[in-house]
Amino acid sequence: MFETYTSAQAMTTDPTPPDGGSSYWANLQPVNKPPEVIVPIRSLGENHRERIAGHLKALEANDRYYRFGFAANDEQIDRYVAGLNFDRDEIFGIYNRHLKLIAMAHLAYAGDERRSECAEFGVSVLPHARGRGFGQRLFERALMHARNHGVRLMFLHVLSENTAMLKIARNAGATVVRDGFESEAHLVLPPATLNTQVTEMLEEQMAQANYQIKIQAKQFRDMLHSMQSSWRIPKNSDHPR
Ligand SMILES: CC(C)(COP(=O)(O)OP(=O)(O)OC[C@H]1O[C@@H](n2cnc3c(N)ncnc32)[C@H](O)[C@@H]1OP(=O)(O)O)[C@@H](O)C(=O)NCCC(=O)NCCS
Repeated sequence: MFETYTSAQAMTTDPTPPDGGSSYWANLQPVNKPPEVIVPIRSLGENHRERIAGHLKALEANDRYYRFGFAANDEQIDRYVAGLNFDRDEIFGIYNRHLKLIAMAHLAYAGDERRSECAEFGVSVLPHARGRGFGQRLFERALMHARNHGVRLMFLHVLSENTAMLKIARNAGATVVRDGFESEAHLVLPPATLNTQVTEMLEEQMAQANYQIKIQAKQFRDMLHSMQSSWRIPKNSDHPR
């Protein structure tokens, strides 16, 4: 299950609404908050597995605990990454100009057809990139994607002390239910509109283009760097000046 869901707590949690029926849906309010920060967030595929593993392994024990519900070791992270299903789920990422994956999110769909309207969200941002809205933005992007794919209920399993994640959930209008050390947030999604579909398509194209530009800029910087090193005269060299 660690391979299937975004967090370890999901192993034991049944995402079926408490009363399993219509009154539950009727009492939940749809949320439609527009994104405030424009960040190139792209959808990640198979060829990003290694960098996803690198990103998660760069998290310290406490962050791994927040992200997975326990302080996953490198081997467990490798298993989680190897089990990512890029066909069924959606993985989003934010790369910096050095092509380092500084933030990523996993939107996991329930494998069970009866729960096809539910999805679960997990996210991580590297410490140096926090507080810049990336976590919030990834959540909003995942919400839009989920809406566009017919999801009606989004879940998050959060440790109750994880104030940043709870803030993100509450900012988006999620209902948070605290159960001791753990909290569960859920959010009802309104149906997709032409606007959400076009917006997601444009955002993805913009992010893909941005990624290609970063690749080219990095190649150029690397080339310049290697040329500069070949021009430089070593300090202790008796090379004529
Ligand atoms: C939780 C996490 C993803 C937040 O990412 P982030 O990019 O720093 O978050 P943002 O910059 O988008 O901030 C979102 C909101 O949280 C608030 N916030 C951020 N860090 C905070 C902190 N340490 N304490 C309290 N609030 C905080 C921000 O002020 C913002 O709220 P506002 O818009 O009302 O001001 C990041 O801390 C992280 O990766 N933690 C480790 C893994 C984890 O906890 N994952 C979540 C479990 S699924």
